[in-house]
Amino acid sequence: MLKAVRGTRDLLPPDTDLWNRVESKVRDIFARYNYHEIRTPVFEDTSLFSRSVGEETDIVSKEMFTWDDRARAQSEKAQSLTLRPENTAGVVRAYIEHGLYKTGTLQKLYYIGPQFRRERPQKGRYRQFYQIGAEIIGPPSAGSESPARDAELLEMLATLLDELGLGGWQLQLNSVGCADDRARYNQALREALKPVVHQMCVDCQRRAETNPLRVLDCKVPEDQPIIEKLPKISAYLDEPCREHFAAVRGMLDAIGVPYTINERMVRGLDYYTRTTFEFTHGGLGAQSAVLGGGRYDGLSESLDGPKAPGIGFAIGEDRLILALQSEGSQSHETVQAYIAPLGAGMNVHALKLAHELRRAGVSADFGDENFRLKKSFELAEKAGAKYIVIVGENEVAADTFALKNLGNGEQVQVPRAQLVEHLRR
Ligand code: HAM
Repeated sequence: MLKAVRGTRDLLPPDTDLWNRVESKVRDIFARYNYHEIRTPVFEDTSLFSRSVGEETDIVSKEMFTWDDRARAQSEKAQSLTLRPENTAGVVRAYIEHGLYKTGTLQKLYYIGPQFRRERPQKGRYRQFYQIGAEIIGPPSAGSESPARDAELLEMLATLLDELGLGGWQLQLNSVGCADDRARYNQALREALKPVVHQMCVDCQRRAETNPLRVLDCKVPEDQPIIEKLPKISAYLDEPCREHFAAVRGMLDAIGVPYTINERMVRGLDYYTRTTFEFTHGGLGAQSAVLGGGRYDGLSESLDGPKAPGIGFAIGEDRLILALQSEGSQSHETVQAYIAPLGAGMNVHALKLAHELRRAGVSADFGDENFRLKKSFELAEKAGAKYIVIVGENEVAADTFALKNLGNGEQVQVPRAQLVEHLRR
């Protein structure tokens, strides 16, 4: 039997009802905060990711689905392509490519779609997973550098999780400073690691040389006591970065968004500057980050674009759904009316009635004239129908239908012309 590829999965009903409820809620919230949707391709030139996410990150060094795309015609060139492991790079590429900066205003863009990383699959970690993300990007004159943008974004996330009904989330906040701060911090880490790095895992030994900041991502239990004793990033922030971070915290305090400072959280992508954050949830086990994000003030320039500071986040939709389910959330879209044709020749009448109801905006489904009434009742219940409508010879002749409320068992005879009104109640 052919099966879905390792790390990928089929999303089936009724789970997909919950996915859709989440997506329609987030679209509603994005509209309230004046975001607009952007859709970028699922594959891009490989260099987009190596130049933005960073060569030394786990994502680029070992998790990307990359292939050499052969030229099919003389006019084409062969190139290395990659299934997007994340969407920020694609959004910033599109921002530059289409000159969105020319408007001089802030772009507030959101996306919902699949991402691909060749990670070791486990609960909450897949090779094809879905992100709901957003980016605020624009020229500094449009206010893109302001700590108010950071606070606005974090407040929206708190609102979003609250309105979805997710309790028990925690906002972990940090500042990774600007490029100069991180160069000094990396130097300090390199020195602090020198006498101890030989006791650490092989990944850390490599990172200590190439990008010591990434040592903080290490999950190997034996390395943790060493990592705990390393210098902290906060001591290396310059004055503007320190002030920026203080302003973000002050605004979050003012609007009542709770957070915890976590200085180890440096995030697994190289483009971050200043504010970084994750929202975690206890119901997720090892993969506890429901979402992550941060500022990326130099990203546009590193992709040959204009100065365009930005901040964004991506929710792991798979994990958000798991977290909601761990709190008992479920969604089962139901139909209003289940039509039960009773006896030979009744299918066409059921179809006609279903057609009328659906055109009038009432959700309906119908069975088959060969089903016994008992079976139709069972199917109506399975579909979660509020009402069952019996369509038999007598009903058709009288143009009046027996309508039974499956909740309270009440049954009434309703003339065809009043059915819609009745069912809408
Ligand atoms: P990220 O932290 O790599 O950030 O991913 C964001 C979220 O995607 C994670 O918190 C997690 O919930 C989910 N996620 C990541 N990998 C997997 C996986 N293999 N399976 C299931 N879920 C996963 C980014 O991608 C940045 N682009 C976020 C961002 C936007 N930063 C600024 N703007």
